Amino acid sequence: MAIKNVVVAGGTGALGTPITNALVQSGFNVTLFTREGSTSTPPAGVTVKQVDYKSVDNLKAALAGQDAVVSVLGSFVIGEQKPLAEAAVASGSTIKRFIPSEFGINTRQTPGSAIGKILGSKTDLVDFLKDAADKNPNFKWTGISNGHFFDWGLRHNSLGLNKETHTATIYDSGNERYQTSNLPFVGKAVAAVLKAADTPADKTANQYIQIASFTPTQNEVLAAVQELAPDVKWEVKHAKSAEVQKDGEERLSKGDFSSFMPLLSVWQFADGAGHAPDIKDPAFGNNVLGLQPENLKVALAAWLGE
Ligand SMILES: NC(=O)c1ccc[n+]([C@@H]2O[C@H](COP(=O)([O-])OP(=O)(O)OC[C@H]3O[C@@H](n4cnc5c(N)ncnc54)[C@H](OP(=O)(O)O)[C@@H]3O)[C@@H](O)[C@H]2O)c1
Repeated sequence: MAIKNVVVAGGTGALGTPITNALVQSGFNVTLFTREGSTSTPPAGVTVKQVDYKSVDNLKAALAGQDAVVSVLGSFVIGEQKPLAEAAVASGSTIKRFIPSEFGINTRQTPGSAIGKILGSKTDLVDFLKDAADKNPNFKWTGISNGHFFDWGLRHNSLGLNKETHTATIYDSGNERYQTSNLPFVGKAVAAVLKAADTPADKTANQYIQIASFTPTQNEVLAAVQELAPDVKWEVKHAKSAEVQKDGEERLSKGDFSSFMPLLSVWQFADGAGHAPDIKDPAFGNNVLGLQPENLKVALAAWLGE
């Protein structure tokens, strides 16, 4: 039976807000889980429930009558999803689909790598969901990898472009394709997964999919920025991915988790990284879900105009 009642955990966050908005617009009944003492502002059109993310019993009660869970808990509280997932798979639970807080690079590819050490809580949770689905055919999960947030990454200067100083940092040749998505696009993908879930159109049950607004190269993005603002001169700095990787691994070995960003840059931008999905592949999430790619220049113009 089609999914109607959806819980969004962390639906007040950077990504949670556009996901919640997309679900409300798609006609789902959305209940937002929020932690006690949260000062976050919930999006409009939802029921808000305060929960204790550490208590499986509390979460089980809060999940009664719900059909699906979308976890969008933030990077620093990824481990908090485990009791939520345990409550969702507990006997008597009505949850038929769980979408974990993935929403970045494809963590199915990261075990054994340096960046994989930082993403261990994410991979462990997907392993837990896979195992639960193997044991219970009524329970299913879908993992969504969207690559780097594009609109958010431009604003947070995490994509190598700084519009205040007009500097661009290009890794290696700058010709490697990378996976990147605007936040509202991820919201559309989550809504599309849940619209089809538990219907004959369902193609994402117990699948890990990759989606993308675009898969550009760093050079293509810089060229588009220069075309949109031809009077502005950008200074181009060059980074060598081998050096950045070595430095990142050294910092990580000393417990410095701020090495995540440089390791991430190498993961996506290094020559030969090979982590962008093939957009012609029928298994590419956009093709599976019928999502149209977005326009790179429109997204860049919006950022330049902010
Ligand atoms: N691909 C990318 O470029 C990229 C970038 C950033 C994040 N991500 C990923 O996207 C997902 C969502 O990240 P986000 O940045 O949207 O999350 P966020 O805004 O940092 O946090 C999301 C929500 O988590 C809830 N939360 C629960 N316990 C918390 C605690 N102890 N401290 C702080 N917040 C707590 C908060 O909701 P309440 O206040 O309502 O409880 C908060 O609004 C994560 O999987 C993250 O790794 C990807």
